[in-house]
Amino acid sequence: MNDFTSGFWGIFIAAVTLLGIAWCLWLLVSQRKWLKITKEGDVGDTGHVWDGDLRELNNPVPRWWTIMYILMCVFGLGYLFLFPGLGSYSGVLGYTTEQELEQRSQAYAESVRPTYAKFDGISVEQLAKNPEAQQIGQRLFLNYCAQCHGSDARGSASFPNLVDGDSLYPRTPEAITETISKGRNGIMPSFNGVIDGATATDIAQYVRSLSGLAHNQLAAIRGKRAFDTNCVACHGVDGKGNKMLGAPNLTDGVWLYGSSERRIVEAIMNGLNNRMPAQEAILSPEQIRMLTAWVWGLTHRDGAAVVSTAQ
Ligand code: HEC
Ligand code: HEC
Repeated sequence: MNDFTSGFWGIFIAAVTLLGIAWCLWLLVSQRKWLKITKEGDVGDTGHVWDGDLRELNNPVPRWWTIMYILMCVFGLGYLFLFPGLGSYSGVLGYTTEQELEQRSQAYAESVRPTYAKFDGISVEQLAKNPEAQQIGQRLFLNYCAQCHGSDARGSASFPNLVDGDSLYPRTPEAITETISKGRNGIMPSFNGVIDGATATDIAQYVRSLSGLAHNQLAAIRGKRAFDTNCVACHGVDGKGNKMLGAPNLTDGVWLYGSSERRIVEAIMNGLNNRMPAQEAILSPEQIRMLTAWVWGLTHRDGAAVVSTAQ
């Protein structure tokens, strides 16, 4: 496939390229009388004199240089004949960078296949206990996930912590595989225009009370009423969240954005839109399985679920 939308530009560029080389050759030929001259001073000097006795001569370029010059032009023409370079002409070898990339990634996939082949048919739960599989999983995580989730997988503001046992989505092998392959998009609508600033502050006080943080009791009572109207659809009547919607548990003391009144009011007024990009185009199914096992293993030491640790 070529990048030219109109046939004209392909031809134009090819013509300019060929004319460029022809011009280089013409330049050499037009100076050909130099070729026959070998002795210094044969063409005389230019008459330019510096510092009294420094004369500028008009000597020919050396023969080796002339030969190299011609060879370069021949090389250029040969290259343009074999490889793409003349507008939309694709070269007799039919080379494309796309094809080269594909061949290389196929060769790479082939070369790593034996590494993954020995884990075929082993369950994610078993892989999570296999030291070699865990090592591969960790290396993949450091390459593909650590820039967002942190090299210790403990995340940071808006990037979920994957080791604390609390999670937005179910922490099952299937859900983790889906997260990695298809990505996730956690969306909380903005309540701007629905809830006024004072009510948002009351709700924030109520939300803080859910995890036992310092709060204004009167405001929290008012806040609960507004919470019951606006928030329970996603966060649940008890505020414990809904893993199908990716709505976090607001009672466990684990915060993705922060527990301050300001942060909670911001979430209510501005809404949230948090995206994890899909990785299925980047990672092979085998790699995704290794990562699933590694991530699952973070919260399922020895196969048992780690209890959520409030912090
Ligand atoms: C560009 C940043 C980014 C990269 C790279 C990234 N993630 Fe994520 N990940 C996120 C965000 C943001 C979320 C939260 C999505 C949401 O709020 O719905 C998330 C969510 C998750 C979750 C769900 C967490 C929960 O609490 O349920 C898992 C599991 C996960 N990522 C694993 C991975 C793995 C494994 C990789 C590497 C293949 C990876 N992520 C790469 C940003 C990223
Ligand atoms: C349509 C569903 C939905 C509704 C309604 C909703 N939320 Fe959310 N909320 C979410 C989702 C999804 C997230 C997680 C966003 C993310 O993945 O980053 C979230 C996150 C939050 C957070 C951040 C938690 C943390 O760990 O930092 C707070 C606080 C919050 N919501 C409070 C509220 C309050 C208060 C209301 C009512 C005014 C409300 N939500 C209504 C879906 C909803």
